[in-house]
Amino acid sequence: MKKIALLGSGFIAGVHMEGWKRIPGADVVAFYEVVPEKARVFQEKYSLPYYSSLPRLLEEKEVDIVDICLPTFLHREYTIQAANAKKHVMCEKPMALTVDDAVVMKNACQLNGVELMVGHALRFWGEYVKAKELVTQEAVGKVLTVGAYRLAVTPGWSVISWILQQNLSGGAAFDLHIHDLDFTNWIAGKPEEVFARGVQSTTGAWDHVVTSVRYVDGAISHVEGGWMMKGEFPFTMGYRIMGTAGILEWEFRAGVNIEQRGAASPVILYRDGKPREEFNAQGDDAYYLELKYFYECIESHRPIELATADHGITAVRVAAAARESLEKRMVVRI
Ligand SMILES: NC(=O)c1ccc[n+]([C@@H]2O[C@H](COP(=O)([O-])OP(=O)(O)OC[C@H]3O[C@@H](n4cnc5c(N)ncnc54)[C@H](O)[C@@H]3O)[C@@H](O)[C@H]2O)c1
Repeated sequence: MKKIALLGSGFIAGVHMEGWKRIPGADVVAFYEVVPEKARVFQEKYSLPYYSSLPRLLEEKEVDIVDICLPTFLHREYTIQAANAKKHVMCEKPMALTVDDAVVMKNACQLNGVELMVGHALRFWGEYVKAKELVTQEAVGKVLTVGAYRLAVTPGWSVISWILQQNLSGGAAFDLHIHDLDFTNWIAGKPEEVFARGVQSTTGAWDHVVTSVRYVDGAISHVEGGWMMKGEFPFTMGYRIMGTAGILEWEFRAGVNIEQRGAASPVILYRDGKPREEFNAQGDDAYYLELKYFYECIESHRPIELATADHGITAVRVAAAARESLEKRMVVRI
């Protein structure tokens, strides 16, 4: 049995709360929130005590795990607080807004002997897990290119619109795009060079970006991400992996928000001289699976190997290089 403090009561905190409820032994004992109206709604829904001060919460409640679902600009500060209080940390992605911050977070957890996992949920998402599995089995041969994309309308739900401010969220170039930057790192290995082109929205944030990464093993990625879609444009994500022996492709279109998940579409494998193969790889909720994995690692003292602090740092490193490339209009070496 492990006790959890949930930080935030916004969109992803609600998703995490539903995940924790399904994990035997996981007990969310309180949450932290600074906006009273949001706290009231969450408290009514989940009958949980809430605190507007994390130190006070940690003083009054026995807690093993701190689950950080706060805006990105707060990840560093709250990870350090939790680590210094000797709590294991689950932190949402992007891990931080700079590589230095992300490294400080990892070090704080290491120094305090606590675990840190980053919410790169695609590593638990059925169709992305299938891609990794098929690539590992060499179903496409040697990977030559990895394409991935994620397109959404502008998010309008968050308080103080922190998400639309580049200095608080990193803009779509960090917030949304980083899912696929982490996925392509997972598939293609160690990133070496980054080039990006993008569009700034009226806020000045890089909110639609195309990033190309060259990997040490020779593969290249081309990743498109942004939240400047209009009207009823459905939330869209997908990938296309080209290898020496095959192509792997998947696309998903939902409602205007990822919450409104539509019908599953299969992962398709194309190979010369063979009929196409289809895999229905839709799995259980990736956020639940990610929290379950984290919880079980903590319970059984197993090291975290998926969505580690190092994966989080590398994803931030590529996103930061992409932003530098956008600003300087040049290739950035990692
Ligand atoms: N893994 C995913 O697929 C995924 C999806 C959405 C969001 N996220 C990440 O989760 C984090 C939270 O995103 P969200 O969409 O839940 O945001 P949100 O705005 O809906 O929720 C953030 C919550 O933090 C609270 N908060 C506490 N202290 C605050 C402070 N000092 N300033 C502002 N807000 C404060 C807000 O009141 C709010 O309830 C971000 O890092 C985001 O990138 C991840």
